[in-house]
Amino acid sequence: MKYAFAKRVRHLHSSAVRDILKVVNKENVISFAGGLPDDNLFPLEGVQDAFARVFETGKKSMQYSETEGYRPLREVIVERMKRKGIQSFTEDDMLVTTGSQQAIDLFSRVIFNPGDVVLTEDPTYLAALQVFQSYEAKVIAVDSDDNGMLPDDLEQKLKMYKPKCIYVVPTFSNPAGRVWSKERRVQLVNLAHKYRALIFEDDPYGDIQFNEDETYTPLAALDDGTHVLYTSTFSKTAVPALRTGWIAGPFQVIRMMAQAKQANDLHSNSLSQQALYQLCRHFDLDGHIQTLIHEYRARKDTMLRMLQQSNLQGLRFVEPKGGMFFWIELDEKINTTLLLSEAVKQGVAYVPGEPFYAGTPKANTMRLNFTHSTHEKIEQGMNILVDVVEHATQEQIILA
Ligand SMILES: Cc1ncc(COP(=O)(O)O)c(C=O)c1O
Repeated sequence: MKYAFAKRVRHLHSSAVRDILKVVNKENVISFAGGLPDDNLFPLEGVQDAFARVFETGKKSMQYSETEGYRPLREVIVERMKRKGIQSFTEDDMLVTTGSQQAIDLFSRVIFNPGDVVLTEDPTYLAALQVFQSYEAKVIAVDSDDNGMLPDDLEQKLKMYKPKCIYVVPTFSNPAGRVWSKERRVQLVNLAHKYRALIFEDDPYGDIQFNEDETYTPLAALDDGTHVLYTSTFSKTAVPALRTGWIAGPFQVIRMMAQAKQANDLHSNSLSQQALYQLCRHFDLDGHIQTLIHEYRARKDTMLRMLQQSNLQGLRFVEPKGGMFFWIELDEKINTTLLLSEAVKQGVAYVPGEPFYAGTPKANTMRLNFTHSTHEKIEQGMNILVDVVEHATQEQIILA
């Protein structure tokens, strides 16, 4: 039987990350591939206690609930956003979503007609690119450096393409581990106002910040509540299995997204939302985040040391100031997509850089996660990876 799928799904491909994870889970491979927190650091007892408290409230906790999300949790989220300087949104300008991934999807569903343009960084979050493509939006990459999008190129593309939206991960990005300077943030918000484009600020990693002295102001805190939608998640700081994120933004956009959500899943898992509320009230989530920061910073340092010691030809990277990833550029002759099967055979996995690009991909790039593996595994895995890359460079067996 030949199944006649809708035209829009022609853009849907299985992602490289998922394909790799399938292999890696089966085999004995050290994985720097997924964007996963460390299982050993999950607050198991805190979550158990939170669910126990939910069940103590009785059977009503199991009922259908509001599409916008469990109100007490939204109140907690508003408090947490205020601490980051985001003042413009109340509980009513917000939607609790099934991870921030669903926020990207619902936003795209209500905003993009086929052919509408979205501007992105390059490289950018792979699964956002997949969502934009699934709604047949046209993705245009804006030239960026280590401080964020280059304002001249951004302005030129705003003029030329009249995009509906600029999608950015300005704080410890996935995959590049990049953090935007304050100046570039202000320039972006000003340009969005000037050219009437929405900004979609995706901020899953902002709380995982390694240097306490610096402040990275969210774009939503630089706006008056009209041009920036801000999404974040409990996946990286609490538990991804609870599948709870949120989006806050201009009320009309949020209301339209709530209507789309009704058609999609009525509401996100409300037991998870109630448990997260209890977790935020009775467990020291901020203390837990400090533990994560402490541990992940040390693992970042281990990976950094391994990279610095490697002497790999053409190696370029920026030390991440937070988040979960190193973004690596290798000798131009190396094609990391072609190299991956050999690396996995030798016992280490990473994500090749190519699928993260909206524009011209750089085949010699890769993303390495440092939060999921222990120090020992990071050392072992990096030794294997460096050997695999060195061998490929010397033999020139992998030509771009
Ligand atoms: C940039 C970015 N946005 C969104 C997500 C989705 O996160 P979740 O749906 O778990 O909240 C991720 C997950 O890795 C991410 O890296």
